[in-house]
Amino acid sequence: MNDKSDTAHEGGSPLDPSAEEIRRWGNAAVEAMVEYLSSIRDRRVYPQTTAREIREKLERNLPESGIDFERLLETFKDVIVPLSRHNGHPRMFGYVQAPGTALAALADLLASTLNANLTAWRSAPAAVEIERLTIDWIKQIVGFPAEAGGLFVSGGSMANFAALAAARRAKAPEDLLNKVAQSFPRAMRVYTSTETHHSVAKAAALLGIGRDNVREVAVDERLKIRIDDLEAKIVEDLAAGHLPFCVVGNAGTVNTGACDPLREIGEVARRFNLWMHVDASYGGFAILATSARKLFDGLKEADSIALDPHKWLYLPVDCGCVLYRDAQRARATFAHDAEYTRVMAQEADEAFAFWDYGPDLSRRFRALKVWMILKGVGLRALGAAIEKDLACARHLEGLVRASEDFEMLAPVELSIFCFRHVLPRFKPALARADEAERRRVEEELDAWNERLLVELQRDGSSYLSNARVGGRFSLRGCVMNYRTTLRDMEILLEDLRRLAERLR
Ligand SMILES: Cc1ncc(COP(=O)(O)O)c(C=O)c1O
Repeated sequence: MNDKSDTAHEGGSPLDPSAEEIRRWGNAAVEAMVEYLSSIRDRRVYPQTTAREIREKLERNLPESGIDFERLLETFKDVIVPLSRHNGHPRMFGYVQAPGTALAALADLLASTLNANLTAWRSAPAAVEIERLTIDWIKQIVGFPAEAGGLFVSGGSMANFAALAAARRAKAPEDLLNKVAQSFPRAMRVYTSTETHHSVAKAAALLGIGRDNVREVAVDERLKIRIDDLEAKIVEDLAAGHLPFCVVGNAGTVNTGACDPLREIGEVARRFNLWMHVDASYGGFAILATSARKLFDGLKEADSIALDPHKWLYLPVDCGCVLYRDAQRARATFAHDAEYTRVMAQEADEAFAFWDYGPDLSRRFRALKVWMILKGVGLRALGAAIEKDLACARHLEGLVRASEDFEMLAPVELSIFCFRHVLPRFKPALARADEAERRRVEEELDAWNERLLVELQRDGSSYLSNARVGGRFSLRGCVMNYRTTLRDMEILLEDLRRLAERLR
């Protein structure tokens, strides 16, 4: 299309489209977005497809010359959308999956348009100030002091990694950063419950702390860390000559949503001079919901917190967040002098660089979508949406407890629910005292629920994932979607009953 007012696109390069083309492409893309979002409830959550089918639908030749935007959009609409799992569907209960929001999708579009690179203040002055402001808001949400620091990273795994790096730097002997970890004769020990997300052990391995130096602490019947076992393991390690340096508490475990007793963990951390990190990637923003707030008592005592705005702020991936109580500890970990990053002739505020506080150099403008959701929706409405998610999970728990054919495998603490289907023929054997018989039936039930889960995922009306709870196979769901209603929880059980009837 020609646009005479457009002087930037004289050569007709697809890399530099005219204003009119951008408008046309943009309108068509927004139309596709509207069509998708307005039909999301009517779609199957999961597609019936195979890798082969998808590959066959994609032109696979290395493209020598380009094609029109309309054809690119056609592939998005006709192949990518129908052959995707719909994370915004109100009955997508698998994993810890947020739906995204239209507002944040537009924020991502604008962030990519500006293509700000948030390395340092001088590279992206306004964008860096937006990130500093939104980090400041998140600090206020969790009760961190004004002088605390933090930044956005790709997700919760990277936030745990950055926090563990800062913990190691803060508690390790001075020269450990410059020498290999093996030069230090004492094993540096991290303590965390058996329910902790695997990203903590992965971070320990990548940081040279060693997976084996992550001590798994036992949990109680509510799947929360046992403080007596935590203390016992620390004492045992001290006696063996190791260096206990960090404890990781959970503000919502990935399996069942259990929140550890953070205040008590803080007391142990202070007593033994440990860094206290809290993995609040899943649960952290539930502090905005009145009914859950008390679970986060003690969160603000942490030395670092991992949060995931791409979970319970409903944002699209990717956006994690790490907060450090003492920003200088993070700076001591990540700052690295190089001539190409030297900041020249600037005041302290403008000499600020995010590369001093995290592992990345180039960083996208994640803060724009965080700013837009917080400013555009507000804490009151976000808190109400989270409260509704919690109510949905509690409703499911109530339905299961009142039923004859389902049973809960863990208490609902936040919005995660773990349960299983129990066929009537299993019931008498489960009630019997004989251990061997009971174990055999438990194994059958595990296998039955696994079959049921696979069938549910194939069926497409609702989607759950799985967990092991106390050694048992569990159907596991997580409500993290402002579209989900109490009725959706009932439909989930109806779907499972329908499929159980078909399978047995
Ligand atoms: C408790 C917890 N920690 C960490 C993570 C990892 O977060 P991400 O997937 O953003 O890396 C998750 C993901 O579900 C989680 O639930």
